[in-house]
Amino acid sequence: MNSSEIRLKFLDYFASQEHIIVPSSPLVPSNDPTLLFTNSGMVQFKDCFLGHDKRPYVRATSSQRCVRAGGKHNDLENVGYTARHHTFFEMLGNFSFGDYFKLSAIKYAWELLTVIYKLPADKLWVTVYAEDDEAYDIWSNEIGVPVERIVRIGDNHGKRYVSDNFWQMADTGPCGPCSEIFYDHGPDVWGGPPGSAEADGDRYIEIWNLVFMQYNRDDNGVLHPLPKPSVDTGMGLERIAAVLQHVHSNYDIDLFQNLICAAARETNTNDLTNNSLKVIADHIRACSFLIVDGVIPGNEGRGYVLRRIIRRAIRHGYKLGCRAAFFHKIVVDLAREMGGAYPELVAAQAGVTEVLRIEEERFFETIEHGMKMLEVALDKIVTDGLGFDVSSSNGKGREEGKLLQPKILVGHIAFTLHDTYGFPLDLTQDVCREHGVIVDEVGFNDAMTRQREQARAAGKFKIGAGLEYEGVKTQFHGYEKLVTQGKVVALYKDGVAVQELSASDTGIVVLDNTPFYAESGGQVGDVGVLQISSNNPTLFVVEDTQKIQPDVFGHHGQVKSGLIKVGDSVEAIVDKAARARTIRNHSVTHLMHRVLRDVLGAHVQQKGSLVDQTKTRFDFSHNAPMTDMQIREVENRVNHAIQANAAVNAQVMTYDDALKSGAMALFGEKYGDEVRVLGMGEFSTELCGGTHVQRTGDIGLFKIVMESGVAAGIRRVEAITGEGALNWVQQLDAKVHEVAATLKVQPHELTQRVALMQETIKAVEKELATLKSKLASSQSEDLASQAIEINGVKIVAALLEGADIKILRETLDKLKDKLKSAAIVLAAVADGKVMLIAGVTADITEKVKAGELVNVVAQQVGGKGGGRADMAQAGGTQPEYLATALASVSAWVKRKL
Ligand code: ALA
Repeated sequence: MNSSEIRLKFLDYFASQEHIIVPSSPLVPSNDPTLLFTNSGMVQFKDCFLGHDKRPYVRATSSQRCVRAGGKHNDLENVGYTARHHTFFEMLGNFSFGDYFKLSAIKYAWELLTVIYKLPADKLWVTVYAEDDEAYDIWSNEIGVPVERIVRIGDNHGKRYVSDNFWQMADTGPCGPCSEIFYDHGPDVWGGPPGSAEADGDRYIEIWNLVFMQYNRDDNGVLHPLPKPSVDTGMGLERIAAVLQHVHSNYDIDLFQNLICAAARETNTNDLTNNSLKVIADHIRACSFLIVDGVIPGNEGRGYVLRRIIRRAIRHGYKLGCRAAFFHKIVVDLAREMGGAYPELVAAQAGVTEVLRIEEERFFETIEHGMKMLEVALDKIVTDGLGFDVSSSNGKGREEGKLLQPKILVGHIAFTLHDTYGFPLDLTQDVCREHGVIVDEVGFNDAMTRQREQARAAGKFKIGAGLEYEGVKTQFHGYEKLVTQGKVVALYKDGVAVQELSASDTGIVVLDNTPFYAESGGQVGDVGVLQISSNNPTLFVVEDTQKIQPDVFGHHGQVKSGLIKVGDSVEAIVDKAARARTIRNHSVTHLMHRVLRDVLGAHVQQKGSLVDQTKTRFDFSHNAPMTDMQIREVENRVNHAIQANAAVNAQVMTYDDALKSGAMALFGEKYGDEVRVLGMGEFSTELCGGTHVQRTGDIGLFKIVMESGVAAGIRRVEAITGEGALNWVQQLDAKVHEVAATLKVQPHELTQRVALMQETIKAVEKELATLKSKLASSQSEDLASQAIEINGVKIVAALLEGADIKILRETLDKLKDKLKSAAIVLAAVADGKVMLIAGVTADITEKVKAGELVNVVAQQVGGKGGGRADMAQAGGTQPEYLATALASVSAWVKRKL
């Protein structure tokens, strides 16, 4: 049975048991910033288990694409070393949302395996959670599995619910006891049944996990019962395929064989059993699907996991001898293999290839140096003969009665490899493992922390952080008011706390209460003034507002007049017009974010934003430049939302409630327990601490003014609003009028007029070319008549006024024809530069070489040249010597003849 048939039979079986077939969700979970990647079939149903999401069905089945690399479930390190670990795999599953529970779940699983897939019942073993008598009894009494093949598995080291038979999606979320079904690959393979000391072997392989979802684990690790007990099951397609195709390794199934051949082709490898091919075949699946689902290689979060997988694959290619990008060339094979089940892969194929190619080429620039450094270090460790060889020892650190130490690569080398050559730690570990060496991770982390601290210290001055401050927090009132009274609680000059700032001093003022917004979330800090009162001369102009601690706002600026002291009460006045411009740009960013996702696809994710008085600049993941049509569409939809004049509301709620309300949160952002949810009618709901307009109509006009690429797979859009957009349109209009006036037409006639002008120019150019060529002929007539004759050879050396290189060439050819036996040098001058061409007829090239001739002249005008014996070109920079240089030609030729 091939993999596609296995997948189909699974879904069909559960459909026949009244389950709805639900398509695979993307690898990036929508709205679940707690989770790095979709790591099992239940992820898209998380809210159904928690009772937050009601769907029209209570039974579902799916074949879900999953990635287990980074995060709670991480198999990256094992890929290439075992027969059944993958970074990417497909999970077949059936789900009950408060409908059936243990009995039916077990019955369905048994029927599918033994009746549909026809697996021999005596090859199957099962495990249950140690305390789960109910599941035990069902297996034993209802199904009839002999008790010697039912194993109870308890908690590891007595840690409550830490067990192979207690499943949880992540550190928080739905979880419950589970029952696993194992397949016995037979006595030829080493290994023992689950729960035994040899369970790690490959003989008894888990093929299906039935989870009885009963609890929700909260942030504090406390388990709360779910509204209704539910079922979540997961069976790795690759594992069941190995069983049904009678092969022992997942890499031997149909799905992998073609990919392994493709990897062999691109790496020029003949031995198809080479482990590196398996790594590459596994990694191309994970990397391609991650890119399909909007992940872009980067330095943090999901992007970094992707980068690590790509680099690991490249390293294995490197090991096989590749010295240039090869990995991206396998995407086409993957699309052929899996495109049928996942059409989204085919649609994104070109983009995926490109993202991989760029990333690969980058790493190939440094991998060679990095590998050399690592090899030198490893050689030294191995030849120094310290300790024992981990790979061949019994692992207990003792050999022949001596206490031995494992071989260790020091942390700072791993760090240099990371920092200078882009080697992720796990890549270095992977290489070291092959040499029986382990990496000092603590040392690596120390070096990393030290570098971060240095970087932070270097950035201190700029952001005004690192100032010593221990007073009250700043209360921010700027959501409701633009003017408030505040008390000066600290002052800084040149980074040091002072008691007062006097006229013309530049410094930082900290207030206990302020309406000034401090830069965060991409929105710049407010500007404005601080004054003691309207009749006191003290005036501090605030040029920027930045946090000096998370809740302490620093007003950066200058005392224009008077004196400001700690303890003074001041009136803090935000520049209303500046704030109004900034908030228009901020609010429109939310609308644009949403519309970009609608127009370009859900893979669009915010990668950075900057909102100030003049614009919003928004970076997002997307593979191709936006087309003019897409830009227009985004503009139209955003302006439509503006014209709807929807009310903008901010609500503070718990993070969980916010996610439940459908608010968009950014992956990798840290949010507190309480978050601010900003809603704009039906158009957008996002977590945001920034300041905003009251109604979308306040934004005025929205116009995109630039779209460009900033990195592989990341686009940048700049847009303007309100009076900024109006100014832009007016300036454009003024330019159009100016051009129209110059051309003496009405603005609406411009296009036609320009087209006409272009035609005229073309015609004129053509005419000019003809004239020039005529000129060349007539000049050649003149020149021919002026030629000096020496020993039957005609010599011409002349400057052609106004000629270009083309005319020089044409004239030269004509002269050669006409003079039959000749040595000719022609020159022209344009923009202070000399162009030279020399030609010699074939009969005398033995004696006079055009290359030498042109060089003789060129050297006299500050240049150099050379070329063929019959024709050569050169240039010079000193036209003032040209006349003399040309005059020298006849003497030189005469000597040669
Ligand atoms: N969610 C369960 C697992 O991944 C079925 O094993």
